[in-house]
Amino acid sequence: MIVSPSLLASDFLNLGAECKMLNESEADWFHLDIMDGSFVPNISYGLPVVEQIRKATMKICDVHLMIEAPDRYIEAFRKAGADILTVHIEACRHLHRTIQEIKKMGMIAGVALNPHTPVQLLQDILQDIDLVLIMTVNPGFGGQKFIPHTLNKVKMLRQRIDQLGLDVKIEVDGGVTLENAQALADAGADILVAGSSIFNAPDPSAAIASFKKISRQST
Ligand code: DX5
Ligand code: ZN
Repeated sequence: MIVSPSLLASDFLNLGAECKMLNESEADWFHLDIMDGSFVPNISYGLPVVEQIRKATMKICDVHLMIEAPDRYIEAFRKAGADILTVHIEACRHLHRTIQEIKKMGMIAGVALNPHTPVQLLQDILQDIDLVLIMTVNPGFGGQKFIPHTLNKVKMLRQRIDQLGLDVKIEVDGGVTLENAQALADAGADILVAGSSIFNAPDPSAAIASFKKISRQST
């Protein structure tokens, strides 16, 4: 599994130390949550913080935009250091164009789906994207409880991707714990995002190592 710790749950007063801990850990990616107070009822952090984190790591910066009309900021996030840019299907009027722009800027293109958004809506974009982020809580806050129904969405999407023979990765985000991660892997998730279950653990680096030990047992 690819493990992408969400820095939303990190200690912002000690961001340098948190980055160092992640750099020395088995974490694959840094998951950076951008919220605008409009698409989601919360505001997190923005471009200057992403820029500083970029300077502090060689690992992949996995930027999750929870903002309205994200096409306005594609270039800015590329310049700030994003390697992966994920936009919400619910926030894009011209998703195909937005995806093309993200790719043109040299980034990996992801599309995120809220818990109520059916995976079938990806039908005519799946062949153009690199990853799908399935929200397993309602976006906006860390530390929420996993919504069980979303597991079926991961299964359905995995089947569809395999049927079409596409190389699209599935990322899950929200309420991911060491208790439900195995089920998510078995359902077809490739990337686990985890905030509170890593940063609130007594030993975050050990928690990351435990997530890394999970592998798909059945399909
Ligand atoms: C929620 C964010 C998540 C969040 C996950 O809107 O997209 O990335 O940080 O936090 P946990 O793992 O605590 O649910
Ligand atoms: Zn996220």
